[in-house]
Amino acid sequence: MKAVIVCASVSHGNTRRIADVMGRGLSAPVVEPEEVDPAGLSGYDLVGFGSGIFSGRFHPRLREFVRSVPGQQCGRAFVFATSGLPELRVRPFSRPLVRLLEQKGFEVVDTFACRGFDTWLPFRLVGGINKARPDGGDLAAAGAFAEGLRAGGR
Ligand SMILES: Cc1cc2nc3c(=O)[nH]c(=O)nc-3n(C[C@H](O)[C@H](O)[C@H](O)COP(=O)(O)O)c2cc1C
Repeated sequence: MKAVIVCASVSHGNTRRIADVMGRGLSAPVVEPEEVDPAGLSGYDLVGFGSGIFSGRFHPRLREFVRSVPGQQCGRAFVFATSGLPELRVRPFSRPLVRLLEQKGFEVVDTFACRGFDTWLPFRLVGGINKARPDGGDLAAAGAFAEGLRAGGR
């Protein structure tokens, strides 16, 4: 199974730590959005897309990259995020990106999210929240997530 992970991690490197664990589990390189040709994604069986959450959305660099991917993709995809606050079940922040990927033709097989160190105002005033996240448990969960994707690979 040929896989690649596209990750924009700009704030504290939180999402990159998750991506690196997933990359090891999937034997997949982790790349910045600007490092990969969007038209080349059709050469992969599985593509991961991840970033921190900013004002309720994935990072603009990641969203812009996904918008530039040609339609009629036929591979599998997954989405992952780190965020200061938990995802709301009624309005998951992953939903718009999942829908966009599906419009591009991807089969989005799973999503992953965990907390990350967050210095967004007003949390900066108290030194940030989730200071030790992602922690060992989050990294282990990311590894198990990747293992599940590998096991489900075709
Ligand atoms: C300007 C800014 C806006 C943010 N907006 C949100 C938000 O809307 N919801 C949330 O849960 N976390 C928010 N966060 C926290 C980040 O999603 C969190 O720190 C994330 O782990 C950053 O990932 P990164 O280090 O990989 O960039 C925000 C952080 C910053 C700096």
